[in-house]
Parts: sequence; structure tokens; C-alpha cells
Amino acid sequence: MQPKSFYITTPIYYVNDRPHIGHAYTSVACDVLARFKRLSGYKVRFLTGTDEHGQKVEKSAATAGIEPKQFVDSVSQHFRDLTALMNISNDDFIRTTEGRHIASAQALWKKMQENGHIYLGKYTGWYSVRDEAYFQESELVGGKAPTGADVEWVEEPSYFFDLSKWQDKLLAFYEANPDFISPPTRRNEIVSFVKGGLRDLSISRTTFRWGIPVPGDQPSPSGSGAASEKHIMYVWLDALANYLSALGYPDTQAQHYKDFWPADIHMVGKDIIRFHAVYWPAFLMAADLPLPRQVFAHGWWTIEGEKMSKSLGNVVAPAELVAEFGLDQTRWFLLREVPFGNDGNFSRERMVGVINSDLANNIGNLVQRTLSMVAKNCEGKVPDADGVARDELDMAFLNAIYVTEADTPQKVDAMYQQCRFHEILADIVAIASEANNYIDSKAPWKQKKIDERLMRATLYHLLESIRCIAIMIQPFMPDSSSKILNQLSIPMDKRNFDHLSEKHALVAGTELPPPEPVFPRFLEKGKAE
Ligand code: MSP
Repeated sequence: MQPKSFYITTPIYYVNDRPHIGHAYTSVACDVLARFKRLSGYKVRFLTGTDEHGQKVEKSAATAGIEPKQFVDSVSQHFRDLTALMNISNDDFIRTTEGRHIASAQALWKKMQENGHIYLGKYTGWYSVRDEAYFQESELVGGKAPTGADVEWVEEPSYFFDLSKWQDKLLAFYEANPDFISPPTRRNEIVSFVKGGLRDLSISRTTFRWGIPVPGDQPSPSGSGAASEKHIMYVWLDALANYLSALGYPDTQAQHYKDFWPADIHMVGKDIIRFHAVYWPAFLMAADLPLPRQVFAHGWWTIEGEKMSKSLGNVVAPAELVAEFGLDQTRWFLLREVPFGNDGNFSRERMVGVINSDLANNIGNLVQRTLSMVAKNCEGKVPDADGVARDELDMAFLNAIYVTEADTPQKVDAMYQQCRFHEILADIVAIASEANNYIDSKAPWKQKKIDERLMRATLYHLLESIRCIAIMIQPFMPDSSSKILNQLSIPMDKRNFDHLSEKHALVAGTELPPPEPVFPRFLEKGKAE
């Protein structure tokens, strides 16, 4: 049987910003899903990249006194470095300045045009360079964009997309695909926005040059008031096309396109949901292309209660967190602290608290205690549970750690499908707490004195719980989980979600390497423990 495929994308990042915790958040969330799907037997394609055109980038390059191309080459690299820093397992990295993307975005434009959905007109209204978005007078708040960004008056010839014609089709699509926009609050927001009526969308600009030329653009017909300007594609149409261009579109026979379009999930921040859940499906319908299955909007991080901004000087750089707290600790914190979809607040105190309580004191402590007892009392080999009948405590404990084939795989898959990372992690923490309680109740150091077989059985059950926990945390903490699985001598082909059952239990007598601590306790400098 062909493995099921799964195509997941991050937004492509604007290159005029240095990578910060918000960017790392979107990428880590996607990475967790991509890793989970791989471990569950899917053929996965995971795309990220950089959004390099537009007026904002042209301005930043001018400020830096260099050519836009030179500017984007150097800053795009910061986002490539972010993928390495955060251990992101993307399969491709697309840049909108690449030839493959430019040709593809132009092909998409042509298709929409051939189908009669693009016409030449004149745009008169406000434009926010920071948001790269158009606004009507009525949408402005105190003379600014609703996001607080400055706007400028624009009056220029422009190509338009007939977005107003797609209202009913979009609403019918949302109705037929209730999970297309997630979580539900975002869905309601978009549905009411579309119900409020859609205006045709200006999809080209003539007042700057840094972008993809509109294909086949002719001087405007006389009488339209336009001169012979050359049009540049609106940066959002250009950017959204990346999800297709990376698969080889317009070659619909390209292997990646055949295997992976339509996308299973576009992960985005709540600020860019409208572009993905309204414009993008309308563009795709206009080009006769299948629509993605889901757009998931996550919330925003504030920093110690304040909006993160360069002017406040409170931008949190992922590299600093990783250097201070560790990579897997940072990945864990980002998804453990806030229910995915909600806004969250980053605080250093919480970060230290979560790392110490979940990782050092709970999972780390369980691994450390168990493995050092096994090393000392079982000749460094997996002990056996032979000749010991399971009591009620054992049964309850083993029930909690094993995934039973009857229902749990579907349950776990659904939790990932709905991006309930926070609950998944809370469940894992609960299992580790239960395991720590189990050690205390069984007190293997006392059992040793009564009957060594009892101690061996307890340690065996504990090793099984560690095996299951380590398999479960793999999508979140790939390095630490593999360290733990190595310490249990688990072969690489026994680390999938399918192996979370008793059928794949550890084999007694297997040699184990000397134990090493995995999650050190984090101590604030200058503070006694
Ligand atoms: N280039 C566009 C996306 C085009 S996709 C076809 C863009 N880029 S961005 O760099 O500004 O933002 C990328 C992602 O980072 C967005 O999903 C955004 O929500 C996210 N974040 C930016 N700041 C954030 C926080 N403070 N908190 C959480 N995520 C945030 O938009």
C-alpha cells in the first residue's frame, strides 16, 4: 500500500526582520507535526522559506545602501540558519527570488487571467507598506492601518482580481469543510468578514520595481489614464504562490506536485489568516486548482506582558534562548506553555519554571533514577520481570503507559491533527509523574532486600515507561529523545508510534550503555538552589 502523504508549510518569512521567537514558534510547531507524521508512517513534505519581494524590502535595501538582491541574499541566510538552530526538519527552503518561483507565480497569474479573473483598472486608496496590504478609508483607525502601521495614499494603474465574485463560493467551501479554518474562533472571524462582502483586489503595483513582473503586461490602453508603466505582482500573490512553486507547478505532472498538492496544512499566525483563508483559496479556485485542506492560525507571543518590538528593545532572539536554556528545552517550552491557537506571554521566570519542573525534576529525574539503579543492580542490562505476578499498581501503571491498538492511535492522531500540542505534552508529563509515583510506592531499594525479583520487575516496568515516553517526545525533542532511546539500546527501526505497545517491549538481557543525565536542572546565576 502507498504511504499516505502529508504536505505542511510555514509562512515564508519577510527578510527585513531578524528571526525572533515568533518565527521560531511557527517553524517549531510545523516541525513537530512533520516529525509526528513521519513517525506515523506518512510520506511528508515540509516547506519553509523566505518572502523577499515588495516595497518594504526595496526600502530596507535602500536604507542599507545596497542592491535589493545583495540585501536579500544576506538576510535570507538568517532564516536558513534559524532552521538549523531550531533543528527544523524541512525538506525544502524556497526563496521567492529563485527562478523556479518566479516562473511558477507568473504561470499562476496567467492561468487566472486566461480564466477571465484579472482585469486592468486603477487603484485609489491607502496602502500600508509594513503590512503590504490595501485599506479603504473606512478601515483606518486614527489615520493608520488597523495594525497601527502608517499608510500612504496610492493612485495608480493596477491589475485587479475579481475577488468580489467569489464570496458565495468561499462561504460554500467553508460550510462544506468545517475544519478548513482552525481554530473555530478564526473561522467565525473569517466567515463574518466574507459575509460582509468582498471587494476586487488590486494585485499589481507600478511605483516600485522589486518584485515579479506581471507576465505579458502591455502598456495600458489609451483612455484608461495609465501610462506604459510595467506592473509588478502584488507581493501577497507572489508570496502565496510559493506553496505551489516549491512542488514544481505549473508542471502538474511533477512528482512532488502529484504527491503533495493540495497541502494538508498551511500553518500561519493569526495576523495573516485573511490572506490564507480568503485570498489564497479564491486565487486557487480562479486557477482551477484544488484547495488546501486546512489553514491553522496560532496566537501571538508578548514578552513579559508587552508587545514585542524593536523600539521597545524586547525582541527575543531564538539563538539566545537556545544558548542559555538548550535547544530541546526551548522547543518544549514554546509548545507547552500556551494552548496552541491562543496568545501567550513569554516570561523568563516561567521558562525556568517549566524546564525545571517538567524536564529536570520530572522526566529527567525518572530517567536518571531508573537508569542508575539498573546500572548498579542489574549489571547494566535490561532486567526481567519473570516470576512476579502483576499487582494492581503494576496493572494501572502499565495501562497508562501503553498505547492500546484499539483506540489510542486514532486519538493521538486527532490531537496532532487539531494541533493540541499543549494537551499532548500535559499527557506526557502526567505519565512521567505517574512513573515517579510508581517508583516511590514500589520502593525498589526496599524490594531488593526482600526479593530481588520484585525489584527487577519494578525496574523493568519503569524502563518500559521511559521507552514509551521517549518515543512520544520525539516530535518535540528530537535530540533528547534519541539520547534516551540510545540509553535503552532501542534499535532505530523500533522508535515509531506503532511501537508504543507491549508487543514491542524491551528484551531482558539487552546490554545498556552507562547512564548519562539528559535534562540538567537550570540554575539562575548567582542564586542558590
Ligand atoms: N511574509 C509573510 C508571510 C507570507 S506567507 C505566504 C509574513 N512574514 S512574517 O515574517 O512577518 O511573519 C511570519 C510568521 O511569524 C507569521 O505567521 C506571524 O504570525 C509570525 N509571528 C511574527 N511575530 C509573532 C509573534 N510575536 N508571536 C507569534 N508569531 C508571530 O507575514
